[in-house]
Amino acid sequence: MTPGLDKLYREALDRFGEVYARAGECGITEPNAMNLATVDARGRPSSRVVLLKEYDERGFVFYTNHNSRKGKDLDVVPRAALCFYWEPLLEQVRIEGSVETVSEEEADAYWTTRPRNSQISAWASQQSEPLDSSAELERRMAEIAQTYHGQKIPRPSYWSGYRVVPDMIEFWQGGEYHHRIHERICYQRQADSWKVNLLNP
Ligand SMILES: Cc1cc2nc3c(=O)[nH]c(=O)nc-3n(C[C@H](O)[C@H](O)[C@H](O)COP(=O)(O)O)c2cc1C
Repeated sequence: MTPGLDKLYREALDRFGEVYARAGECGITEPNAMNLATVDARGRPSSRVVLLKEYDERGFVFYTNHNSRKGKDLDVVPRAALCFYWEPLLEQVRIEGSVETVSEEEADAYWTTRPRNSQISAWASQQSEPLDSSAELERRMAEIAQTYHGQKIPRPSYWSGYRVVPDMIEFWQGGEYHHRIHERICYQRQADSWKVNLLNP
């Protein structure tokens, strides 16, 4: 962690790390799956699940096609809300903040870790656009596999990561249903520091 990082922000990140580690050990297939909500230029919300690929004090990163519906939303309104719920733990984490694109170097580094088939689909899929048939997508995938046969597949310019830079992180702990009051603890960024509050459940 960066020296000089706000004490409460560090506490929130540590707390996230602790819950996230437990989520990784409780038998869920994709503990990094999170709901991502965006809004369009007219304020209409939409949400979908994406995978958290990295997080640190700079924020929470997921990768996607920047021409997708979420990409278009984020172009005009660079703010997002993330929500995890790990049912076996009865833990929810909500994160809200501004959104920036990761650096080209970061995106390239992550791209090289992707399985070849995922790289091919990143080229073949015009994410969120209408598709005539699945045969059409398979044809495009075969075409791309042929084009790059025996070569490294470059990262498409439109495929990259977004980083949600949090200004709010809330932890909700369900406890045992009906026997306990749910605990909500909310960390919020102010001008140049963080504050923490319990919230009514
Ligand atoms: C478990 C799960 C994980 C997913 N992970 C991603 C992801 O990391 N990136 C992504 O672009 N889409 C991911 N998707 C697909 C998205 O939910 C969504 O269908 C797609 O990104 C198009 O969304 P959009 O049209 O709102 O842009 C995932 C779906 C599921 C169910």
